[in-house]
Amino acid sequence: MKIAVYSCREDEIALFEKYGKEYGVELSISPLPPTPETARLAEGCFAVDIITTPVGRDLIDIWRGFGIKAIATRTVGYEHVDYKYAESLGISVSNVSYTPHTVAEYTVMTMLMAIRKMKAILTRYIGQDFSLKDIRGKELCNMTVGVIGTGKIGETVIKNLSGFGCRVLAYDVYEKDSVKQYAQYCPLNTLYHEADLITLHTPATDETCGMINKNTIASMKDGVIIINMARGVLIDTAALIEALESGKVAAAALDVVDGESAIYYKDFKYRPVGHHEMAILQAMPNVLMTPHTAFFTDEAVGDMVRYSIEHCVKNV
Ligand code: COI
Repeated sequence: MKIAVYSCREDEIALFEKYGKEYGVELSISPLPPTPETARLAEGCFAVDIITTPVGRDLIDIWRGFGIKAIATRTVGYEHVDYKYAESLGISVSNVSYTPHTVAEYTVMTMLMAIRKMKAILTRYIGQDFSLKDIRGKELCNMTVGVIGTGKIGETVIKNLSGFGCRVLAYDVYEKDSVKQYAQYCPLNTLYHEADLITLHTPATDETCGMINKNTIASMKDGVIIINMARGVLIDTAALIEALESGKVAAAALDVVDGESAIYYKDFKYRPVGHHEMAILQAMPNVLMTPHTAFFTDEAVGDMVRYSIEHCVKNV
C-alpha cells in the first residue's frame, strides 16, 4: 500500500511520516508538483496525495495507466482537479475538511485590520510617521456584516463575530438552523444593499465565479469593505480595482486573487511577478493582501495531511 505524495513542503514531512505509520501505508514523498513529467513518481502506488496544482486529463490518464485508484487533495477546495473525468474512469477524488477556525479567525483578524486601517498604520510606523491623519477607524460593533456562504468556515466566522455585537446577515443556498441564532439569512440582494462589510466563504463554481462584479458592487453601500479568504475567481478583479479607485469600496482584505496559482508560495524577491492587477492592489494603502495563508496553522496542516491519507486508505 503506497501513496505518492506530491508538493510536500518541509513543514509537512514529519506529519506525513507520523500519519503514514499510523495508517500503515508506505509513502513516496516528493517536493515536486504533479505534472505529466513527474507522473512517474506514482508508479507502484495505489493513490496520489496532492495540494493546489491543477490536475487535468493528461495527468489522470497517465496515473490511470499506473493503476492509481484515488486522488486525495489536502485542500477544502477541489476545483483544481478534473474530478468528473477522474471519477468517470473509476478513480475516486477526495478533499479534506480541516479545522474551520484557522480561516475563520484569520477572517475576523483581517476584518478588524481593514476597519482599523492597519496596513497604513504599520507601513507608516516603519517610516517613523506617527501622525494620526487619515487613520481614524470604525467600530465593528456598529456595523452590519454580510457573510456569503455558511458552510463550516462561514458558520464559524459568524459564531466568532457574535462576541462583537455587530448585526450579521447571511446568505447561502442551503440555510442552516445552527446559524440562525447568530445571523439573519436574507436574499443576496438584501445583503449587498445593507452590509457595511462583506466576507466571502463560498466555493468557486460556475454560479459563484465573478459574483462580485461591476453590477453587484454598484448595488452595495458606498464605502463597503470586501473581504475574500475563499477563492480569487469570486471577484472580478478589474471591477474591484475600479471601485477602490472611485471610493465606492473603501477597503479590501484579500488572501486570494484570481491568477495567483503560479505565484503564491514562491519567492519573487528578485524577479518580476507579472501580475499587474496584484501590483495595483498591493500598492493601495487600504488593501491588505496576503498570499493565501489563512489556512496555515499547525492544527490545519496536521488535519490536511492526516485526512488526505485517511481518504486514500478508505476510498480504495
Ligand atoms: C483550501 O484548502 O481549499 C485552501 O484554500 C488552502 C489551500 C490553498 C492550501
